[in-house]
Amino acid sequence: MSASSESELLQLITTSTRTVAQAYNHAGLPHPSASDGSTPFFPEIALQPRIRDATPTLLAPCRQLMAAVSVPAVYAMNTTWEFTHPAALRVAIEAHVPEALQSSGARGIHVNEIVNTDEVMKSCACLSEILQDPKLANSYSPNDAAVAKALGTEKGYWGYLNEEGNEDRLHRFNTAMVGMQPYANEEALVGDLEWENLPAGSVCVDIGGGIGAQVMLVSKAHPHLKMIVRDRDVLQAQADEFWASGDPTAISSGRVAWQAHDFFKPQPTKNTAVYFLRCVLHDWSDGHVLQILKHIRAACAPESKLIFIEHLIPFARSTPPDLDAAALVQKPDVPQPLLNSTGGGLAHASDVSMMALANGQERTITQWRSLTGEAGFKINRSVAISFLVSRRRSLWLIPLPPSPKIFSDKACFMDFIYSPV
Ligand SMILES: C[S@@+](CC[C@H](N)C(=O)[O-])C[C@H]1O[C@@H](n2cnc3c(N)ncnc32)[C@H](O)[C@@H]1O
Repeated sequence: MSASSESELLQLITTSTRTVAQAYNHAGLPHPSASDGSTPFFPEIALQPRIRDATPTLLAPCRQLMAAVSVPAVYAMNTTWEFTHPAALRVAIEAHVPEALQSSGARGIHVNEIVNTDEVMKSCACLSEILQDPKLANSYSPNDAAVAKALGTEKGYWGYLNEEGNEDRLHRFNTAMVGMQPYANEEALVGDLEWENLPAGSVCVDIGGGIGAQVMLVSKAHPHLKMIVRDRDVLQAQADEFWASGDPTAISSGRVAWQAHDFFKPQPTKNTAVYFLRCVLHDWSDGHVLQILKHIRAACAPESKLIFIEHLIPFARSTPPDLDAAALVQKPDVPQPLLNSTGGGLAHASDVSMMALANGQERTITQWRSLTGEAGFKINRSVAISFLVSRRRSLWLIPLPPSPKIFSDKACFMDFIYSPV
């Protein structure tokens, strides 16, 4: 590493630290401190867009410097030993430490953020064996993912959660999806997706919407919409409880409906204004994503929109300038001299986790463009949805008119055009 890039990294650290420090000074609040376990978390500061943007620009150069200046073998060893972190977290979970902290009433670490790490952690531990198994390594079936070996199930992760005796795990997973909300950018979900521009009574369907955490936020802020949440039937009882306590009139007034539906079957509601999916498609391999998207495409009216929120895996180097897809991602991707990957981060961690858990993956904009194109959609826009713990993007798609089919194999026109005279 050259002295100039080292000082550029230091400059990024200094500028971002100053931005964060000023925000706390300005509010007269104590600065976050790892050495003082009692410093509370102040979402009103940490979730400000300026601070959310400064945080990765502070953490990534720290990681990059650590990697650059360490002895490679020592850096690799330290990284390897990081498996002890989830191991320790698991002990805390099984010993119900978070529940104890929670009931103490202090504003501390949010338990829902860490609750479902044990299934992912065990699955990731089995990943290497699966990738060395000639049969399983090339399978994209969710039933053959590392989770099968880790948890001893033949039914894939979702099937495992349905098994008798796993009711608490299913409940915990769904609660975790709700618990992620304080770390997600609620303002962006409610404010940046232009729900207010839809005419009154427009129908929006959240596909794989869990018990309805996203829809509860959106429908409270935009009561002129009729929103439908669809997910697996096993979530019905928890969804009923969630709506009865969180927004008791939403269901009875008809503003919101929660419906059991398998997204591998045809979409029952046609010509809907918006079909919405958040963190669903990354659970699946390309073939499965195509099936889900094709069912949505078949239900679309020409003016329907498909919006989904996922991580975008950054290109390893700079975004290829020749792609129209490049116009859909922010440029420059990250400040120089940071690596585009920002030294890992949640998008990459999630990519590996999805492979281990379900043979799913996170994707680049190019991969999304090709998959959605095959399903009959065109990506129109992409808007950053900055979560506290990660940067995701919403992709906005419109249905393409079906392409005409040529049913004849009488002539191969391309051969004709290019055949030598
Ligand atoms: C990662 S969660 C995301 C939940 C929600 N969209 C959110 O962001 O909070 C994926 C969801 O897909 C649902 N799911 C899995 N397989 C499904 C299927 N075949 N049909 C409908 N939903 C399914 C799961 O039950 C789960 O709620």
